Amino acid sequence: MGERLKGKVALITGGCSGIGLATTERFVEEGARVVVADMQDEKGRMLEQRFDGQVAYGHCDVTLEADIEAAVHLAAERFGGLNVLFNNAGSGGTPAGALDMQIDGWDATLNLLLRGPMLGIKHAGRVMQANGGGSIINTASIAGLEAGWGLAYGVAKAGVIHLSKLAAAELAAYNIRVNAICPGVIVTPIFGVSAGLDRASADQMAGSLTDAASRMQPMRRAGQPTDIANAALYFASDESSFVTGTHQIVDGGILVGQRASWDETALTPIHAAMIEAAPEEQP
Ligand SMILES: NC(=O)c1ccc[n+]([C@@H]2O[C@H](COP(=O)([O-])OP(=O)(O)OC[C@H]3O[C@@H](n4cnc5c(N)ncnc54)[C@H](O)[C@@H]3O)[C@@H](O)[C@H]2O)c1
Repeated sequence: MGERLKGKVALITGGCSGIGLATTERFVEEGARVVVADMQDEKGRMLEQRFDGQVAYGHCDVTLEADIEAAVHLAAERFGGLNVLFNNAGSGGTPAGALDMQIDGWDATLNLLLRGPMLGIKHAGRVMQANGGGSIINTASIAGLEAGWGLAYGVAKAGVIHLSKLAAAELAAYNIRVNAICPGVIVTPIFGVSAGLDRASADQMAGSLTDAASRMQPMRRAGQPTDIANAALYFASDESSFVTGTHQIVDGGILVGQRASWDETALTPIHAAMIEAAPEEQP
C-alpha cells in the first residue's frame, strides 16, 4: 500500500474492466477513494464490496450528460469532493470506412469516445474549479496518431488528444491539469466486444490474446492494463503537477517506425521490392 494518492478522490469511467479496472485497483492501492462509473452494474457492486469504503459505484452511460453529472455528484456525496477524473470508458466503435460509413455508427462512436470525455471535463472541471484544482486524464490511443485502427475510432481519439490540449489551456488558470494517455495494444476485453462477442465471452478470451500481442511491438511482451494504470497514476499524483496538455504514448514502441526496424524477420518495403524485381537466377 502506497500513499501517492493519499487523500485524493478520483472518478474513473469504464472502471469495471480492462484499463479502468486496473487503474481503480492501482489508485486504491495508493490511497485514493474512487468512484467507478460504468454500465456493468454487477461488476460495479462487486468492486464496492471488494474495496469497502474506498470504492463507490454509480451506473453511468458517459454519452448522457445527466449520468456524468450524477457520477460527479456521487464523488462529492460519498467522498467529499473530486480531485481526479479519468475519462476512460470506451469501445472499438464502428469498423466502417469513409465510403461505407453509416451515420448512426459514426455518431455513436464519436458520442462515446469524444463527447463523453468533453462532458466529463465540463462537470468535473466545474467542481475542481470551485475546489482549487485537479487532474483530468483522458484515454486516447495510438489510433489518434496513426492510420490503421478504424476511421471513426481514430478520429475520436485524435479529437481526445486535441481536446486535452485545449482544455489544458482553458483550465490551467484554475490549477486544473488535463493530459491524455495513448495506449498501444493492451490485452483487455475490448477486442472481443468489438468482434461481436458478449461481455462474458470477451472477458474470458482477453487473456488468450497475450501471446499474439507480445509480437506486435518492439517490446517483446503484451501490453497490460497495469501499464496504462501506472501512467494514469503519474498524471493523477502531484508528481506531475507541472505537466499539462501532453499525451503520453504507452505502446511498447509500436510507433517507433516500420516493423523492419525492430523485427529482423520483416522486410522493409524497398527491400521487398528489390527482391521482387531481381531477375531470377539461371540454373
Ligand atoms: N485495449 C487497448 O488496446 C486500447 C488501446 C488504446 C486505447 N484504448 C482505450 O482504453 C479505454 C478502455 O478500454 P479497455 O481496453 O479497458 O476496454 P474494456 O472493454 O475492458 O473496458 C471498457 C469499459 O468501458 C465501459 N463502457 C463502455 N461504454 C460505456 C458507456 N457508454 N458508459 C460508461 N461506460 C462504458 C465498459 O462497460 C467497460 O467496463 C477505451 O477508451 C479504449 O478506447 C484501449
